[in-house]
Amino acid sequence: MTDDPLAPDVEPRPDDESPPEDRPDDAVDAARPGDDVVLTAPAPVDQAAATMVADADEVAEADADTDADAADAAPLVSAEPVEPAPGEAPPAIELRNVSKVYAGHTALKKVSLRIPEGILFGLLGPNGAGKTTTLRILATLLDPTRGSAYVCGRHTVRSANRARRMVGYMPDLAGVYRMMETREYLEFFAAAYALPKDTRRRTVDEVLQLLDLGGKADALVGTLSRGMQQRLGLARVLIHDPKVLLLDEPASGLDPRARIEIREVLKELRRLGKTIILSSHILSDIEEVCDAIGIIEQGQLLFAGPVQEALARASEERIVEVRTVPGMADTAEGVLAALPQVRHVEVRGDDWIEVRLQKGETDHSFIASALVSAGIRIVMLAEHAVELEDAFLSLTKGTVA
Ligand SMILES: Nc1ncnc2c1ncn2[C@@H]1O[C@H](COP(=O)(O)OP(=O)(O)OP(=O)(O)O)[C@@H](O)[C@H]1O
Ligand SMILES: [Mg+2]
Repeated sequence: MTDDPLAPDVEPRPDDESPPEDRPDDAVDAARPGDDVVLTAPAPVDQAAATMVADADEVAEADADTDADAADAAPLVSAEPVEPAPGEAPPAIELRNVSKVYAGHTALKKVSLRIPEGILFGLLGPNGAGKTTTLRILATLLDPTRGSAYVCGRHTVRSANRARRMVGYMPDLAGVYRMMETREYLEFFAAAYALPKDTRRRTVDEVLQLLDLGGKADALVGTLSRGMQQRLGLARVLIHDPKVLLLDEPASGLDPRARIEIREVLKELRRLGKTIILSSHILSDIEEVCDAIGIIEQGQLLFAGPVQEALARASEERIVEVRTVPGMADTAEGVLAALPQVRHVEVRGDDWIEVRLQKGETDHSFIASALVSAGIRIVMLAEHAVELEDAFLSLTKGTVA
């Protein structure tokens, strides 16, 4: 083993046998005097290497496996090796068959996920899906009931202090000390993270500038707008220069302008090389900024991968809207429903039908040919543009019982 106290746990070891328990945020003990706190911009990340994996089939087996161990886990469905090759950096974030049961309620079911460094990852799911639970496990605030989680190769239970040093966690309901001044607030956290006194001010100045809060350095926190307080929350988690940011609904409750500002900050943080998981139940927050997304529903990770892949999955089911002259929709339905390329036809009005093609059908020109041959006059024919919302619906709909 290495002497480096912050070295990753690259050797797989048996899971912690101790019973899981919630633990208080003792982040302070993770900091070490002399740590470099300057925000640095590492080499650009190869986006092509962004391979995220969600093994939905394994997930479906859910609780059947009571011994989901990091070393013994079934290999993830990935082109990437599960164990990093010798000398290769571990992924920034890794979950291996992580389940979480709260007093009999299963909040996460065998979630497996790898996120390489430098990725802005959006964790998308409805209320109660398990987003906060996932982030709290990665923040070392919650132990998985089964399975293992790693941050930059550090096990979140066995090496909780070292893992914690790697992360900045912004909870969904972050409190602020309203009667402190902005700079004072950040210096307080810099001290809590044991940043050396001589670099504290410089670090706080850098973070204030990054979050565009320089003009409010002397303002009381309680007087800041909601958007500014949210940016201050982000500033706070950047103080110890963590590699990984876990942001739970950072844009919630913000007006459109403030949401855009947060997005810009996130892009800047990614440019600085941070790996970011951002949770949201709002598609537009994620669609705009994320390189990759995970879709979680009722504790099951149904999809994880590049945004384009989610769109491609959704577009496997093409939808074509057809407008006919009035009164012809039913006849058109009869003609098209009989064709092998068509999965389903829905009559939306007396001049309007929606045609769903069989998976893999890429050419919809047969629709016009068939309708014209049957003497049906077409007014308009257009393929429905696939959006992330379609991906979300198509990936989640009916998949979770
Ligand atoms: N401390 C707890 N005790 C019992 N059940 C809990 C606890 N925390 C969460 N749960 C349950 O676990 C499930 C997942 O909750 P979680 O907070 O992770 O969801 P979420 O995706 O963050 O939802 P939201 O969008 O509402 O924030 C929910 O059914 C929730 O009720
Ligand atoms: Mg939540």
